[in-house]
Amino acid sequence: MKAATHFLIAFGLSINLFADSFVSAAFTSLSSVIPSLTASNTTTAYIVELSSAASNSSSKRKRSLTPHQDLYNELRRKDVAFSSGTEWHSEQIFVGVELVLNSLADLDAVANADNVVAVRPVLTFQPPALVRTHSLTGSSDPALPPDTQSTHVMTGVDMVHAGGNFGQDIKIGVIDSGVDYLNPTLGGGFGPGFLVAGGYDFVGNAYTGANTPVPDADPLDTCFGHGTHVTGIIAAQPGNIYNITGVAYKSSIYAYRVFGCTGGVQDPITVNALLKAYDDGMDVITLSIGGASGWSESTTSIIASRIVEKGRVVTASIGNDGAQGAWYPSAPGTGKGVISVGSVENTQLPAINAVLSDGHAPVPYFSLRPFPVTTSLPIYATSKDITVANDACNALPSSTPNLAGYVVVIRRGGCAIVDKLKNAAAKGGKYFFIYNDGTALGVISTGTYIGALIRAEDGAYLVNAFKTNANLRVSFPQTLANTVPVDGGGLVSSFSGMGPTYELNLSPAVMAPGGNVISTMPRNMGTFGVSSGTSMAAPFAAGAAALILKAKGKDKATCKSVKGLLQSTAGMIPTSGVDGAPIASAAQQGAGLINVYQAIQAQSVITTTELLLNDTLFGSNYQLVIIRNPTKKTVTYNIDHAAGITLSTVNPSNGLPNMAPIPTVPQTAGVTIVGKQVTVWPKLIGMFIVKTTPPTGLDAKTFPIYSGYITICSSLGETFSIPYMGTSSRMRDMPVLDQSDVFFEAQIPIMLTGSGYPADAGTSFTLVGSDYPAILYRRAAGSPSILADLVSPNTTVPGAVQARSLSKRGTLWNWLKGIFGNRNNQPTPGTFANVRTVGPIQNVPYSPRHEMEDAERSGYDFVRVQNYLNTTSIANGQYKLLLRALKVTGNAAKQEDYESWLSPVFTVNAPTPSASVSANTTLV
Ligand SMILES: *[C@@H]1O[C@H](CO)[C@@H](O)[C@H](O)[C@H]1NC(C)=O
Ligand SMILES: *[C@@H]1O[C@H](CO)[C@@H](O)[C@H](O)[C@H]1NC(C)=O
Ligand SMILES: *[C@@H]1O[C@H](CO)[C@@H](O)[C@H](O)[C@H]1NC(C)=O
Ligand SMILES: *[C@@H]1O[C@H](CO)[C@@H](O)[C@H](O)[C@H]1NC(C)=O
Ligand SMILES: *[C@@H]1O[C@H](CO)[C@@H](O)[C@H](O)[C@H]1NC(C)=O
Ligand SMILES: *[C@@H]1O[C@H](CO)[C@@H](O)[C@H](O)[C@H]1NC(C)=O
Ligand SMILES: *[C@@H]1O[C@H](CO)[C@@H](O)[C@H](O)[C@H]1NC(C)=O
Repeated sequence: MKAATHFLIAFGLSINLFADSFVSAAFTSLSSVIPSLTASNTTTAYIVELSSAASNSSSKRKRSLTPHQDLYNELRRKDVAFSSGTEWHSEQIFVGVELVLNSLADLDAVANADNVVAVRPVLTFQPPALVRTHSLTGSSDPALPPDTQSTHVMTGVDMVHAGGNFGQDIKIGVIDSGVDYLNPTLGGGFGPGFLVAGGYDFVGNAYTGANTPVPDADPLDTCFGHGTHVTGIIAAQPGNIYNITGVAYKSSIYAYRVFGCTGGVQDPITVNALLKAYDDGMDVITLSIGGASGWSESTTSIIASRIVEKGRVVTASIGNDGAQGAWYPSAPGTGKGVISVGSVENTQLPAINAVLSDGHAPVPYFSLRPFPVTTSLPIYATSKDITVANDACNALPSSTPNLAGYVVVIRRGGCAIVDKLKNAAAKGGKYFFIYNDGTALGVISTGTYIGALIRAEDGAYLVNAFKTNANLRVSFPQTLANTVPVDGGGLVSSFSGMGPTYELNLSPAVMAPGGNVISTMPRNMGTFGVSSGTSMAAPFAAGAAALILKAKGKDKATCKSVKGLLQSTAGMIPTSGVDGAPIASAAQQGAGLINVYQAIQAQSVITTTELLLNDTLFGSNYQLVIIRNPTKKTVTYNIDHAAGITLSTVNPSNGLPNMAPIPTVPQTAGVTIVGKQVTVWPKLIGMFIVKTTPPTGLDAKTFPIYSGYITICSSLGETFSIPYMGTSSRMRDMPVLDQSDVFFEAQIPIMLTGSGYPADAGTSFTLVGSDYPAILYRRAAGSPSILADLVSPNTTVPGAVQARSLSKRGTLWNWLKGIFGNRNNQPTPGTFANVRTVGPIQNVPYSPRHEMEDAERSGYDFVRVQNYLNTTSIANGQYKLLLRALKVTGNAAKQEDYESWLSPVFTVNAPTPSASVSANTTLV
């Protein structure tokens, strides 16, 4: 089982707070799903996109009024009950409106209205996760700061700074929880002339993502801290007690606040923030916001992509779902052209030495501030066995003494650290050392308790002393933290989300420091703190982009080149610190760790910075790479390649995705470079061809992701590398529906009664209250389209086919229109290879896969057979439910491209059929 704790924040979208470990049973009892089965939520809020220059879709008729007024008038004529929310009028980026419908049946009318280009559901995004946070409290902190510039050294930012480039004149929009600009390290004020020169609060303190936002002009953050930490990474001013500076600290910050003090954000708010940041002329926009997706389609991804297309830089964090394995990057980072950023660990950690009375070497504990203890304390170990895997995960035995006067020593692992501290605190414990269990060292989150991580070997020494030397005492000099190099520094953070997308796009695009980063916090939350997360990596990359724009100009062409520059000059990251360790997968590290100095210094231009080899069905074995030599010298380029590890992403025995650490196989792709040396005359271009052969001898059912890097060394002394990545399987074969009994005790999908018990064939339901069939299922992979239809009881699949026009599938048709726009890959009526259906119950576009190990996150879904999708009631009679999941790269018009599951026969026997189902829907 995995070492991660996840907390559910919002239905379907969840936050990964990455505490240290947790216990999860291999089986989840069916009864545990009942609470969520009985709570059925219907969303009827949509973002309706209207035709505009940006949508690249010509309107069906000439506009008379605004397109919004036209839409409202048309809907009123058609008797559609709706209420409209925010309108967007950005002709160049996005024209549309937020609509709440009273009935799903009206979706047809909306989607078919003149000028409507797309209808997309309103999504709620999770609050960005600080994976670990450690706050410092104010002025009592001792003043000697650690050297926190290690993140700058890792990425060449120190050398860019040495040249006097601090991002002057670049405007950076930070879409986050606001900022405490009154923190002196963030300029001490707001408005023209201050570091935080502008911005807006779209939500107010009380906003949770589920209530009405109360906007105002002031984006001050005094209750969340996330945006304040993010802003310090970009722009902390020199001269502070921790001696930190931001990556681009002479840039101008605009803070767009989209989170209240708690909760999430609905994407219309994020749309507002993106459009305002664009209108305010931000050169760089950064979002540390996301929801696990695996796909590139959501309103915010699309708008972010359009802003990139207009010549601005957008960075976004890839998410903190690294424990969940491959195919799980977050939107909107997955948007085209957006720079999605993963996290690497800082190379240095702040540490303070505790002194032992027996003369043994001091014990460093990883913390920015010393424990507030001026006497020496004896130690108490909660276990005398240093191998016990779940030390202090349960209440301590009654024989435990009062721990108030001790330093309590506990082994890491087995449950969340805070749970261990809570158990020890229940016995009076006040000060805690957690000794490491082999996971990465770091500044850990201890909640309100005073505790810190120590090294495993120091823990072993202390536990042994506890057994043998009752006199050992520990003291805590009130001295300065210094920074110490740590194993694992510079490596990919275990929490960093892993791609690729299901379309085999590279995501993350690049990596930046995000693990154990010291930055600013609101004054009332410690003023400074250490946090970890891809939330920290995205603003770092935004600062890096600002340095590049400062160096090269901020015209449209330069802005569009930033992603490629960061990618081609990034450094490959190894899988471990051991010499000769293999290179990590491009699915995990994208193009590698950014090097801003090289991105700015490089003169040659590599125009192809990702070689996306797709799957065995759609991939191409030949890739062309073009090099431009804009200098006045003839330059010679030597080309080579280095393989990365090959990941087995799916467990072939049950079709479920493998969790981290993902198994690897030794086979790598064959790579032949045609033109290993290329000489390019001044001002001309040169090229070479990369021929790849997917690794052979692998089980295609493991969906191996192979990858590596083409390296280019120039006679000017430049080095570049470009990732290649593909899978030696067909994505169309990837199992979508979990048909195993791994997660629940029962084989799924399974038909349950509305109260959560397996329902036998022939069960009769009244569809009143909770007396309805509910099909429990899980997605082992994402699907472009999940369909649930009632079919007649004699239906078999495949078979009983009878031509049926897909255009009759009213709502699906509109979903497809919303998702695909008006492109041609819509199925044409009559070509759907046709299972005759009675009526649709559910259609869901572009679903991510489910969490595999933790039911409390989004671990499963239901199809509730209560009424048709259009809210019409189901006539009495016998039915089966046909659940279909379109396979990745599948053709929506072909039955054989779906995975299908057919329920047992059930009977609908409503007491008074016409009144059995209420048409009332919940407004959100
Ligand atoms: C449904 O919505 C309510 C109110 O927003 C919320 O409290 C509840 O948790 C939601 N239920 C589910 C299953 O998401
Ligand atoms: C916009 O539409 C034109 C004409 O249909 C097409 O040639 C062009 O490729 C489209 N552009 C984009 C970005 O889709
Ligand atoms: C603080 O930062 C300055 C400039 O970055 C550097 O010269 C100095 O050595 C740092 N001091 C410490 C204690 O790290
Ligand atoms: C791979 O092929 C599929 C199917 O044609 C396509 O949808 C996808 O965009 C391709 N991926 C890349 C990275 O080109
Ligand atoms: C299936 O049942 C339907 C309705 O009861 C009937 O019209 C149809 O002919 C049956 N099809 C087969 C293949 O038995
Ligand atoms: C709703 O859908 C069902 C099943 O497709 C169909 O029979 C019914 O006519 C539809 N009702 C309305 C009002 O569109
Ligand atoms: C549906 O709405 C009506 C009017 O608001 C209300 O009287 C009725 O009780 C509601 N029905 C249900 C089942 O909630």
